[in-house]
Amino acid sequence: MTQAERRVRVDLGARGYDAVIAPGALARAREFILASLAQPPHRIFIAADAALPAHTVDALARSFGGAARLSLGRIPAAEAHKSMRGADELLAALADARLERADLLIALGGGAVGDLAGFAAGIYRRGIPWIACPTTLLAMVDASVGGKTGVNLLARGEVYKNMIGVVHQPAAVLIDPDVLESMPQRSFRSGLAECAKHCMLAGAWGDDRLWDWTLANIGPVLARDPGALPELIARNIAVKARIVQADERETADEGIRAQLNLGHTFGHALEGLSNLSPTANPTDAPLQHGEAVALGLVAAARCAAAAGICPGSLPAEVESLISACSLPARIANLPRSADVIARMMHDKKVAGGKLRLVLPTSRGRCGFFADVPRSAIETGIDALRC
Ligand SMILES: NC(=O)c1ccc[n+]([C@@H]2O[C@H](COP(=O)([O-])OP(=O)(O)OC[C@H]3O[C@@H](n4cnc5c(N)ncnc54)[C@H](O)[C@@H]3O)[C@@H](O)[C@H]2O)c1
Repeated sequence: MTQAERRVRVDLGARGYDAVIAPGALARAREFILASLAQPPHRIFIAADAALPAHTVDALARSFGGAARLSLGRIPAAEAHKSMRGADELLAALADARLERADLLIALGGGAVGDLAGFAAGIYRRGIPWIACPTTLLAMVDASVGGKTGVNLLARGEVYKNMIGVVHQPAAVLIDPDVLESMPQRSFRSGLAECAKHCMLAGAWGDDRLWDWTLANIGPVLARDPGALPELIARNIAVKARIVQADERETADEGIRAQLNLGHTFGHALEGLSNLSPTANPTDAPLQHGEAVALGLVAAARCAAAAGICPGSLPAEVESLISACSLPARIANLPRSADVIARMMHDKKVAGGKLRLVLPTSRGRCGFFADVPRSAIETGIDALRC
């Protein structure tokens, strides 16, 4: 490993794997990927995000030379394509490429392509190996690690986020931070929302300095300084890995892995509202996933303070963190809080008709709460109004 390289183990016993973060890694993908697999695949299918520059896809494909038969599918990264129909198309392409049980699917793209391709790998022939090569910051620090894969349910004109899926761990995660160069700045910033979320959790998961480190390094991070990105990505993956190790399938009664949904119950409800813009300019609508999560983190902190769950000073600290990341902490055109709560009721963590929320309890720590007073939830949502 060179100095800029990092390796984080996701320790899940027989399903464990390494996440390697290395500038230029895609061009050396073959050696890394083959070392991660129990047996070399005869065929490899690369499901590549259609928006990626050709040189990024070529770097990965070329690294294999003639080592295996290679097929390439370009996948639209739209949320609308992260659906059963999108999965159907990809499964058909895997069958056309004659992938067998021990062959390999590589997901090269953001979280949308990773979720869709990981899901296809999880159900094709009842599960084939897959490797995540995330190309957005969000997918690098979050979506590519932990094995949650899936698609949105499109039903009766509504989109239900991530309602269908399987836990299917990748065989490895290979991250080349250089690919972030081609990301629009708004999408790059959007990924920082998951980093902010990790800051709000990390104190309980072995990195109580992540919040301060992020604030201290936010300038170089926003400038995509190659000196800052590997550490940012590795530290965030390490937090997520420890949580996943403690509760891989989100079955712990005390809601361990569920903590990773901090801000998401509020955020997903906002993400489903297509007219919301993160700026005064309506043409910036709809919200990106990370922007919705950032607002969700602010709402969760305000809600927790209103319910007496966290210190009254925490929401302002959370808003400073979100603003430092150049993410929105307020929004125009927010509908009535009752309408947002109605959308929140579609969340996966609703049980017995009750909303259960992950809320911050102190700086760097969270808990899982049923029975949060409706008035506190409304306070959290109303705090987002410009
Ligand atoms: N599985 C999980 O644990 C998990 C966790 C968090 C989020 N997610 C999911 O991830 C998705 C969001 O992921 P995302 O933020 O990566 O968005 P995304 O995958 O939709 O990608 C955002 C945009 O960036 C483009 N893009 C990707 N890489 C690029 C690059 N290097 N250069 C230029 N453009 C590039 C894509 O084509 C797309 O237009 C959501 O569907 C969310 O539900 C999953």
